[in-house]
Amino acid sequence: MPTGDVSLPPAAAAGTVGMARDAGVVWPGVAPSVGAESGPDGGVVWPGAAPSVGAESGPGAAAAALARYRRAALGVFQPSLVLASGEGALVRDVAGREYLDLLGGIAVNVLGHAHPAWVDAVARQAGRLAHVSNFYATEPQIELAARLLTITGADGGGRVFLANSGTEANEAALKAVLRLGGSRHRILALEGAFHGRTLGALSLTAKESYRKPYDPFTGPVEFLPHGDLAALTAAFAEGGLAALVLEVIQGEAGVRPLPPGYLAAARRLTEQHGALLWIDEVQTGIGRTGYWMAYQDPAFAGEPAGSGRAGDSPAGCGPAGDSPAGDSAAACANAGVLPDIVTLAKGLGGGFPIGAMVAMNQRAAGLLQVGDHGTTFGGNPLASAAALATLDIIERGHLTAHARELGARWRAELAKVDGVRAVRGAGLLVGIVLEEPNAPAVVRRAQAAGFLLNAPTPDVLRLAPPLILSQDQADRFTAALGGLLKVDPLQVEGNR
Ligand SMILES: Cc1ncc(COP(=O)(O)O)c(C=O)c1O
Repeated sequence: MPTGDVSLPPAAAAGTVGMARDAGVVWPGVAPSVGAESGPDGGVVWPGAAPSVGAESGPGAAAAALARYRRAALGVFQPSLVLASGEGALVRDVAGREYLDLLGGIAVNVLGHAHPAWVDAVARQAGRLAHVSNFYATEPQIELAARLLTITGADGGGRVFLANSGTEANEAALKAVLRLGGSRHRILALEGAFHGRTLGALSLTAKESYRKPYDPFTGPVEFLPHGDLAALTAAFAEGGLAALVLEVIQGEAGVRPLPPGYLAAARRLTEQHGALLWIDEVQTGIGRTGYWMAYQDPAFAGEPAGSGRAGDSPAGCGPAGDSPAGDSAAACANAGVLPDIVTLAKGLGGGFPIGAMVAMNQRAAGLLQVGDHGTTFGGNPLASAAALATLDIIERGHLTAHARELGARWRAELAKVDGVRAVRGAGLLVGIVLEEPNAPAVVRRAQAAGFLLNAPTPDVLRLAPPLILSQDQADRFTAALGGLLKVDPLQVEGNR
């Protein structure tokens, strides 16, 4: 049908949310009765829609919904709840039980759930233009790419490729690195690394159980002991290096940060040898660690204390709590270590799927040319608008400073709880190392007590809550943690 057949009323032309129903537009192919009926609570009953999993309520609803999940969904996940709604840092399951979401969709829901400004931005863009293909560009996409260059600290030659997820951002980066070619045939990654599950990204992911069924990989990836500078230096001395890929904090390996000075040394070595430094900020980026990017945190970017090198604390980008201006896009962006490639996803869309590969300079940006890579959905205007709204809200709400300050206080309090051996992380990416390797049991008990978190390793609890988490909400968990850790010894045995 030619588009000219659809005449939009003024509200629709202006992209007003909900216009189809309110203005009574009859969209071709949509039954005229859509939206005509009203549900018992005044809500719309959509013709043809099956009763939602949330339609039942009460104690049986949760089990029934999980049983339906298992009959319908491929068995690669084992969800423990069926969630129905959320608001801020709280979510509700289909039985109406409320939980404090301390996992944030694994570091995704930086704004919490249903942030009104984000919802409005997404709905407005959906009502205007959701998708166009990459034969055409859109303003949200252009604006987002420009914003990402600013907050990552890219130089004038930097360019952005928008994808749909972290693994896809890493696939793009891997293709770029492989394009270096010539004698540069080696890529270094670290033991414990997680870079995604598609085959290219999986070749960079260390975990044996994820890799084994798909081995051997054709990729030229070698894994080095985590945080071991001597091993890194020795690997560079062998020559032939294309790139080193790092996470500033390995989330999946139990919120394990790089030791101080490692990043700066990695930058020096890659520069000396003409290799690319690629930092995977999929989990740590977008304010999670209290900075737009974790590599901008002086605690990671600086030289080891006593190294005699200048620049322990990058100018204008002070340590936790002393840099309220650190939320502005430009502040801190050029501080510290500047990688050649940065990959992003998770928090970037505030819950909308999107990823990005930022080539930080002309050399990295020139590696992929017209036709060398592609995606149907990557960077579509809907995803881009969601990401732009997310960045705006973080900036306006000073959420990086909030994450930095709340995170520092919270980690200090959590470390005092009986049964906690140590607390690692930065900002609101927190790893609670337990004295007993019973983290999975603690996660189950926490859920029963109304807290959502996870256990990336047997002895670590991971917290990656919305950046809007309040002090009160953090305190509620701290107060409950001691009780949650008192698991009986038989259960400990069962979790090994
Ligand atoms: C550091 C890192 N890189 C890449 C990925 C893969 O991202 P996605 O699950 O969006 O594909 C993840 C996911 O946990 C991650 O933590």
